This record gives sequence, structure tokens and C-alpha cells, in this order.
Amino acid sequence: DKGGYKHFMAKEIAEQPSVLKNTLSHYQNADASEVELPDHNIDLAHIDRLTMVACGTAFYAALTAKYWFEKIARVPVDVDVASEFRYREPPVSPGTCALFVSQSGETADTLAALRYMASQNATILSVVNVPESSIARESDLVLPLHAGVEIGVASTKAFTAQLAVLALLAIKIAYARGAIDAAQYRTHIAELNRLPGLISQALGIDGAVQDIAKKLATAQDIIFLGRGALYPLAMEGALKLKEISYIHAEGYPSGELKHGPIALIDKSVPVVVMAPMDPLFDKSVSNMQEVMARSGQVLLISCKQGLKTAAEGTWAQITMPTTPDLLAPIIYAIPAQLLAYHTALAKGTDADQPRNLAKSVTVE
Ligand code: M6R
Repeated sequence: DKGGYKHFMAKEIAEQPSVLKNTLSHYQNADASEVELPDHNIDLAHIDRLTMVACGTAFYAALTAKYWFEKIARVPVDVDVASEFRYREPPVSPGTCALFVSQSGETADTLAALRYMASQNATILSVVNVPESSIARESDLVLPLHAGVEIGVASTKAFTAQLAVLALLAIKIAYARGAIDAAQYRTHIAELNRLPGLISQALGIDGAVQDIAKKLATAQDIIFLGRGALYPLAMEGALKLKEISYIHAEGYPSGELKHGPIALIDKSVPVVVMAPMDPLFDKSVSNMQEVMARSGQVLLISCKQGLKTAAEGTWAQITMPTTPDLLAPIIYAIPAQLLAYHTALAKGTDADQPRNLAKSVTVE
């Protein structure tokens, strides 16, 4: 049942405020003073290294979480796509924790990577949406998304729920390791509880995105740029667009632009810049100006203040709510999803059944 929407994807985008509310409610105590995980016997205070493995959108969720685990919990993290990881058979030191992210819990490469890590005696954690899946069954600790069934082939609500669960885990581990104090821990929990409200607010951009998508639909190539935790989001935005609109798109770290991709820029290439007002904002803006100096058509996605400071000369703007740094990659997933969806609509492709793609990739 599409609940009155044209596609499951649109329905699943729209239901994210209630999905996230539900996800968050499963991971905290009544007065929101503690992150609570399902029962386990893992010593969180002694997680000294984390290996994360996933595919596609789940891989981008893991890459985003690397920023949180390293910055907030001070735990070094390796992230890899499962199809590479499994055949590289990396050496595993004693006490390694491996974390697998998968909506379906059945992705063949991710499951094979899990089995390899289990054979090396790693502790296996997983973040899955389907609690009875193979990946869940073979894990020492399963962190379910509680996002409800996701039908659209392009993952949307599972992605933001993955990010929410990974952020909760990062701050839980950060506190257990003494990397943050009780006040910082509570502040982060309170920030996470603002997610449903901020996502609802972000969904208000729908009309503005429809107009922008009409122009994007005529492009051959689109570049997405972001820095810090917004870099994986740039890749996620590009993947969504490729999947359902069939337009070639690439996500790059803004600072990498001048090491090659800037050669692609001319007036026919829209460049989507995701730049919340965080400590890296000025750097993103200067990269954006380099694009504009080469006639690139910039779509700037930032908050009101960010747009006031930097929108001059851009082709289009999307106004996002002001967000705590921790939440920015989750909130900015909304424009990534809506840009892909409305561009697909403008091109007349079927957002729910993109060509050549299956919802769950259970063969290599
Ligand atoms: O079920 P999984 O999360 O393991 O699936 C991983 C990828 O196949 C999946 O995220 C894919 O990239 C989506 N179609 C993205 O929208």
C-alpha cells in the first residue's frame, strides 16, 4: 500500500520522521539519559578498533559513521565494501570488533565478509533492518533499525535509520571509553532526539526541489561535493541519482576537486554542494567558488545563514534547517533523496523499479 503516494520511495521518504522517532525510542531509557542497547556481553569500553563492512548505501552509512567513531569516540575505524574485503582476507588482530551494515541482512558479499571475520574470532556486530535475516542470526550483537519494511529499491528510510543507530552506538562507546563526559553524552542524546523534528522541517523543501529537478533532468553528468561527514553523503546523493534517474553522477570530497575532477566542470555540469555551517564551511565555500569561476552551475544546500553568506553567484539554493554538527549528514540525506526522486519523476523513469537493480543482492 503506497498510502496515497505515487511510489513506495516517496512514501518511505515521507515517513522518516516517524521511523526515526521509533528507532530512537528503542535505544534509550525513559528519561533519555542513557543509550540502551539490546543485551550483550561486549566490553564497549575496550573496543580499540572497528572494522566496518557493507555494500552500496549501507557502505555510505558506514563511511559516515567513521567520522563519528573517530571524532567522538576516538576509535580508529576501517571501512570497506564487502566485495573487496571478503577476497582480501585482511589479517585480524585479537579483540577486533567487526560491524556489518545491511538493510536486508541477506547481501551475499556482506554475509561472506561476516563469515570470514567470524572465522578469525572477531566479535560480530550488525546493524540490520530485517531481524530474522542471516546477518542478524550470525551476529554476537544485532542492532535492529526498527524502520519497517522498505520496498523501494532505492534505500531511503533504512539509510537515515542506519545513521541514527550508528550515531547512538558511537556516543555510547564514546562515553564507555571516557572519550566524552556525562554532560557531552547527554547533549548528544538530546541532539539525536531532535532528529524527527528536523527531518520533518527538511522535508519542507519538496516544492523547491521539484523546480530544480526539472533542470537536473536535462544534465548528462552531475557532481556532488561535500566535506567531512558530508563527503559520504555526496556519494550517497550521486548513487541515488544514478540508480533511479540513470544520470551519471559522482560524489567527491570537495578538497579533492582540484586534483582532477575540476577538469570536468563547464556550464553544462550542475554541481551540488552540501555545506552545512560547520567548522569546514569556509573551505567548502572556497571550493564552490573555484567551480563557479569555471562556469559550473552550483546548487548550494546549506542553512539560512550559510546561504546568506555564500549563495551569491550560485544557480540554485536549497534551505536546510540549522543542525547540530552530529546530525548534519542525517538531515542532508533528505535533499539527496528528494533530488534523485524528483529528477527521476521529471525524466519519467520508474523510481520504485529501476532497471537492472534488485532490492536485495543475494548473489555475487
Ligand atoms: O540490503 P543491503 O543494505 O545489504 O543492501 C546493500 C545495497 O545493495 C543497497 O544499499 C543498494 O546500494 C541500494 N539499492 C541503494 O539505494
